[in-house]
Amino acid sequence: MLDEKIKQITDSFQSDIQSVDDLKKLEDLRIKYFSRNGLISSLFNELKNVSKEDKPLLGKSLNLLKNKADTEYNSLKEKLETGGPESGEKIDITLPGNERQIGSKHILTQTLDEIKSIFKGLGFSVFEGPELESDFNNFEALNFAPDHPARDMQDTFFVNKDFVLRTHTSPVQIRVMESHKPPVRAIMPGRVYRNEAVSSRSYCMFHQVEGLYVDKDVTFAELKGTLVSFARQFYGENLKYRFRTSYFPFTEPSAEMDITCYLCNGNGCKVCKQTGWLEILGCGMVDPNVFKSVGYDPEKYTGYAFGMGIERTAMLKYGIDDIRVFFENDFRFLKQF
Ligand code: PHE
Repeated sequence: MLDEKIKQITDSFQSDIQSVDDLKKLEDLRIKYFSRNGLISSLFNELKNVSKEDKPLLGKSLNLLKNKADTEYNSLKEKLETGGPESGEKIDITLPGNERQIGSKHILTQTLDEIKSIFKGLGFSVFEGPELESDFNNFEALNFAPDHPARDMQDTFFVNKDFVLRTHTSPVQIRVMESHKPPVRAIMPGRVYRNEAVSSRSYCMFHQVEGLYVDKDVTFAELKGTLVSFARQFYGENLKYRFRTSYFPFTEPSAEMDITCYLCNGNGCKVCKQTGWLEILGCGMVDPNVFKSVGYDPEKYTGYAFGMGIERTAMLKYGIDDIRVFFENDFRFLKQF
């Protein structure tokens, strides 16, 4: 009788423990078999009632059952309390963890984001154009004479006779005006390419932000007001600035804007080549010939345009003296921003 029961309970313990996969189920198992009224304890109670001759043998197999069940119970308990059912590993919480590298925005993206947000605050929207551009949009519509030096093979990456890698973001002005009637007020950021020798000052690819505002009665004073407002927000409230006359085929009159050198405060140093001034952008009033090429009436509309290099802007703001660092992806540089 009792030996039948021992066999039965051995089997049922074996099948019950198979399905234990968490500590809650383990506790249920413990209560069912090992508690004071549990199945194994009750077998020991029954042992009192068996005959003297049978006792030693039954006692032995009962002890065997209890010990085996105990061992299996304890080893499963340890597994569940540490590394899960399979692993059996303990977690050493004193070991250093794996450092996770958290990415961040590239300094050029951060600079552009800041430029965008200032101009958005001044009422400008954002447009983009392609890097592969027609000769017409990059030069002809922008009033470049056929023999203008910027068209020279030295500066421009020609793809074929009609297409180039754009040498500036000004062709996006043409695209915006061809697809929108005035008034238009937009900035146009993007990559540009120039076939120049790579040095600390120039790279074969860089970024610009173009600006354009066209409406009735737009004046040079508004151009200055907008750019001064931008420069104060970007470089600092107290900066001094000046506009110098310049030349671009697509603006008339044209100017370049300088701000006082961040390093020497205008006293003259190596960075500003002893002049006390740093050039930050080119600008001017849109040339009537440009309006004609996009079908705007130059008698009715006036406008201004400006363009600045994003690398140059970041270099001036943060005192970076080599343009190549933007493209080398050296963490020691990138992590500083
Ligand atoms: N496209 C000019 C350059 O690349 C910058 C510019 C833009 C000048 C718009 C005037 C107006 O140098």
